[in-house]
Amino acid sequence: MNQLNNKDIVELGSGDCSKISILLNSIPKHNLDSINYIPVDVSYSALQGSSEELLVLFPELSINAIIADFVNQLNVIPDNRECMFVFLGSTLGNFTEDIANKFLTELSSKMNQGDMFLLGVDLLKPLHILHNAYNDSQNITSDFNKNILNVINDIIDSDFNINDFEHKAFFNEQKSRIEMHLVAKRDLIIMSPFINSEIHLKKGENIHTENSYKFSHEQIKNFEEISGLKIKETYTDANNWFALVLFEKFNN
Ligand SMILES: C[S@@+](CC[C@H](N)C(=O)[O-])C[C@H]1O[C@@H](n2cnc3c(N)ncnc32)[C@H](O)[C@@H]1O
Repeated sequence: MNQLNNKDIVELGSGDCSKISILLNSIPKHNLDSINYIPVDVSYSALQGSSEELLVLFPELSINAIIADFVNQLNVIPDNRECMFVFLGSTLGNFTEDIANKFLTELSSKMNQGDMFLLGVDLLKPLHILHNAYNDSQNITSDFNKNILNVINDIIDSDFNINDFEHKAFFNEQKSRIEMHLVAKRDLIIMSPFINSEIHLKKGENIHTENSYKFSHEQIKNFEEISGLKIKETYTDANNWFALVLFEKFNN
């Protein structure tokens, strides 16, 4: 990974930084002090916790965390050094097509000649694998899905009770996406001091909580056209379930 020497690594939606550690581990220790790592996330606690952990693992690294929204605030990211942007965990798959296209276009116009973009995407795969991943026996996805109600309660002081809802996740073939919903188990009335009227939910009614688009290699190739970036390498696992795509910026 000598190509990262003297570069900024900007990770968009860095979260717990667990994936970037794998990349940083592949860089010889004596080269790490030439790299400036810039995690970008909306979560202050994620940035603080992960930066502290990374500095223990990689004391040579310089870290400049930025709290920002990567959809609307790419302009706050410095662009005075050569850079590799990193966007992992198929977070792109949580965007609608319009936002994904806008994001790719704006990121590309921010990039300078020779800059790179490493994108992690979840590929289309057999239906039962997708279904089981989002309906796991340990209820990890179900708990994650229901937790959005706790987050909403914290923000608007509402009285959602997660036990009143059932997790529902399925693959929408037409839209090439996993959809997650929460289904009311009974008629419900939800209140919050921040909204004027009560929220009425009938038994069986859905709250659509998340989409996670799954991509084909053809769609990934199409990102070249949308962004103007060129694919340099595509790495996949043995099953061809996930891809890491390395794009490069060439000025016309
Ligand atoms: C699904 S997690 C992925 C974390 C990490 N990239 C990984 O693959 O393990 C998405 C991360 O992006 C952050 N995030 C989501 N939307 C964002 C936005 N618009 N701007 C900045 N960060 C965002 C979340 O706070 C979260 O840490």
